[in-house]
Amino acid sequence: MKKIVDFVVKENKLLTDNMFLLTLQSNELPTILPGQFVNVKIEDSPTTFLRRPISVYDVDETNGLLYLLIKIAGAGTLRLSKLKQGEKLNIILPLGNSFFIPSNGHCLLIGGGVGIAPMFHLAKKMTSLGLNPTLLIGTRSKKEIVQQEILSQYAELYYTTEDGSYGEKGYPTQHSILQQKFDYVYSCGPEVMMKAIANYAYKNDISCEVSLENMMACGIGACLCCVTETQQGHKCVCTEGPVFNIKDLKWQN
Ligand SMILES: Cc1cc2nc3c(=O)[nH]c(=O)nc-3n(C[C@H](O)[C@H](O)[C@H](O)COP(=O)(O)OP(=O)(O)OC[C@H]3O[C@@H](n4cnc5c(N)ncnc54)[C@H](O)[C@@H]3O)c2cc1C
Ligand code: FES
Repeated sequence: MKKIVDFVVKENKLLTDNMFLLTLQSNELPTILPGQFVNVKIEDSPTTFLRRPISVYDVDETNGLLYLLIKIAGAGTLRLSKLKQGEKLNIILPLGNSFFIPSNGHCLLIGGGVGIAPMFHLAKKMTSLGLNPTLLIGTRSKKEIVQQEILSQYAELYYTTEDGSYGEKGYPTQHSILQQKFDYVYSCGPEVMMKAIANYAYKNDISCEVSLENMMACGIGACLCCVTETQQGHKCVCTEGPVFNIKDLKWQN
């Protein structure tokens, strides 16, 4: 059941020159499933009338904490990066569907850039259910690597960097870990990366879910600006996604 909640900023931590981690608190935090996202209202900005969709990176239900990992892309995320401790943030949540979590099997989670946000929430949930997920993260260079210590507590961690400054050089789809056998693959990141991962999953007949980050406006299925083509016709990413099984998408070459 979606709610509109006023959160209080507990901490706003700059992690790199353009990524930050927002810690928000409310005693009205609803249950949020891995893959679901929130719609954030940007106050005091005449150019950002529409709410901004952001994945849930982490939740601490006991203490009413919600964590968002955000990359500055434009005016809205820039405004969020400047929020101070004690300020209020109005959020609609939880939105969208969630990832399928199997009862057993070898799961590979692949995050590109800020796409690690929903992958971490998923890894944490899987670990709590007794699964041992593998998390592969792709970035441009070492300076974009964030939250390594906490991520390593919930997944076996591997990296690729495009410039070879950390982990294996190249893209996630080129990492040697992909030679192992996986039963399930999950991914979030740039569409070109998710399509390459989908290709690997199609070829190896592995079940694969991706979290799409199409541009959104209303966030409630009314404007149709976020639609994606599926085997069952056009679907709204905001209400029928953001998680899709690749067999339902028209991505296969
Ligand atoms: C379901 C979902 C989950 C998301 N989760 C996260 C997250 O966890 N962390 C995070 O940092 N970002 C996330 N995004 C992307 C985030 O919503 C956009 O970066 C943000 O709305 C940009 O707003 P802005 O006002 O800062 O920039 P704008 O001024 O609106 O746009 C700046 C630039 O960013 C591009 N842009 C805007 N929206 C998107 C988008 N959806 N995908 C790619 N490019 C976009 C625009 O084309 C433009 O070039 C998510 C998007 C969706 C749909
Ligand atoms: S954003 Fe309006 S229908 Fe999805």
